[in-house]
Amino acid sequence: MKRLPLAFFSAAALCVTTGMAWGIYMGSKQDFTLAPAHAHLNLVGWASLALMGTFYALSGKGGRLGWLNFILSSGAVVVMIPFLAVMLGGKPTAEPGVIAGSILAILGMLTFLFNVLSTWREVEAA
Ligand code: HEM
Repeated sequence: MKRLPLAFFSAAALCVTTGMAWGIYMGSKQDFTLAPAHAHLNLVGWASLALMGTFYALSGKGGRLGWLNFILSSGAVVVMIPFLAVMLGGKPTAEPGVIAGSILAILGMLTFLFNVLSTWREVEAA
């Protein structure tokens, strides 16, 4: 396997392990205030990064645009989730951090979309 999909899967596995531990903690405390942050860690961090990693593993694509996708999409998780947790915890001043993380997330997804669509040029007609 190439380094790019491995980087995606490593980040994704780290996110879901953290997300699951967080879910168990929320359940044990019966305090679900931060449930949307837990959900986004799992969905943006685990599901999205793992799906992107799967695409890069199957396609063999990589290069600078693949790594840009990785940096934007994993950076989005690192920025968005802590600020979202702080905001949900009752500090609305954290909102700009959530917005910054969301912008990174959509830029990462746009890079992914570009990389997926540009693969059409390389496939043989079946
Ligand atoms: C050990 C594994 C996990 C545990 C213990 C756990 C626990 C929880 C808990 C306690 C809640 C709050 C429920 C409530 O508000 O009544 C929750 C919500 C949620 N979880 Fe998890 N979770 C786990 C894994 C996952 C994974 C892998 C995903 C997605 C890939 C996920 C996605 C969600 C979503 C979408 C919500 C709803 C959030 C909301 O209502 O705002 N969870 N989880």
